[in-house]
Amino acid sequence: MEDASFSNKESKPIGFAPPFIDEDTIAAVSRVLRSGWITTGPETAAFENELAQYCGAERVACGASWTGLAGVILDWFGVGPGDEVILPSYTYCATANVVLHRGATPVLVDLPEPSNQDGLNIRWADVLPHLSPRTKVIMPVDIGGWPIPASDWITELTAWSKENGFQASNGVQSQLGRPLLLLDAAHSLGAALDGAIVGSQADLSVFSFHAVKNLTTAEGGAVAIALPAPFDAHDVHQTFRTLGLHGQSKDAAAKFQSGAKDAWRYDVTTPGFKCNMTDIQAAMGRVALARYSQDLATRRSLADRYDGGFDAWTEVILPERSDARRVSSDHLYPIRLPRFSEDQRNALMAWLQGKGIATNVHFQPLPMLSAYADRGHKQEDHPAAMGAYSCEISLPIHLHMSIQDVDRVVQAVREGHAHVMAQTEDSKA
Ligand SMILES: Cc1ncc(COP(=O)(O)O)c(C=O)c1O
Repeated sequence: MEDASFSNKESKPIGFAPPFIDEDTIAAVSRVLRSGWITTGPETAAFENELAQYCGAERVACGASWTGLAGVILDWFGVGPGDEVILPSYTYCATANVVLHRGATPVLVDLPEPSNQDGLNIRWADVLPHLSPRTKVIMPVDIGGWPIPASDWITELTAWSKENGFQASNGVQSQLGRPLLLLDAAHSLGAALDGAIVGSQADLSVFSFHAVKNLTTAEGGAVAIALPAPFDAHDVHQTFRTLGLHGQSKDAAAKFQSGAKDAWRYDVTTPGFKCNMTDIQAAMGRVALARYSQDLATRRSLADRYDGGFDAWTEVILPERSDARRVSSDHLYPIRLPRFSEDQRNALMAWLQGKGIATNVHFQPLPMLSAYADRGHKQEDHPAAMGAYSCEISLPIHLHMSIQDVDRVVQAVREGHAHVMAQTEDSKA
């Protein structure tokens, strides 16, 4: 039995983002395992409907991962060699990799100079100079769960396209008549903009349900479909499902569960991918979604406690969590220590590790990684992202933590900061 008292928790290691698997999740997975149907089927369909209702999108399509779904979407939009996709340099590699997989070109945008309002997100003003006739998709990222103002971006993008034109190279692109706003919402399930949950403002918003995310299905993802008319969200959902299953016109459930004569027969309309969600994953997701408002409230109280603990400490820049229009999903709690060099940041992380506290860095800007450096992306073109990276530490925030754990982390960060500062002074002397 776990002892809830502070003194017993004091020496217990605090992991970075262990998954929260309750007995209801185990029961739901067991139910599906015993049901005789374990791949995409009724659980996935139910999870899609519940997600659509939760985030206010007309339809949601689930898949095996964010990466699988983002790939399907870029293929549906016809993104390929010669096309450009604008995305931040300050993100996880997946955002750029899906573009490279299509032979298209990721155009990397630096962060703005430190601004409280935007947190670690890029702004529309930073995207604007990069728009060109080759731009097919804009893929901003809600870093840490802090939402970009997606509805403003749609307005700006529509106005820009009216003024500058848009060269559509297929039917889907002509239907939209402008570049696609594909939101990397991997971190921002449950974040809100203007009172609406993320998922109804960008054309398409893709969530990740990877093991460390706020809501997890071990691996998994979902796309919320909010394309303007004349798109039919039901047709687009069907297309994404088909493209995520080899382009097969029927999935296994439709073949085996319908009972109709010749139900086994199907066509392959295009050589699609294989990135469908299983009913085992969906069963996990449904339990977590039913609990999600409560989970968000827990995360919020932990983040509030961090805010309070660091209040008035001039060494730290705290994450953006709410303003007049936005509320974060508190996926990460990324602090920045602007007086610290990268080495000092690393020394503090090691100090915290020594105290049993796991931390992380979000993110290494893409030009730091060989795959993108080898493709000509230079760190010196991304000074703000490099500056943010070098002094950033993501502190643990998850459902196994108590308020006392947060207090312990705050105290350790402050002590560790003083220790690293003193060490630096010593080495100078
Ligand atoms: C910002 C961002 N985008 C995309 C992904 C990829 O998600 P997935 O692992 O579900 O493919 C991640 C995963 O960590 C992420 O952090």
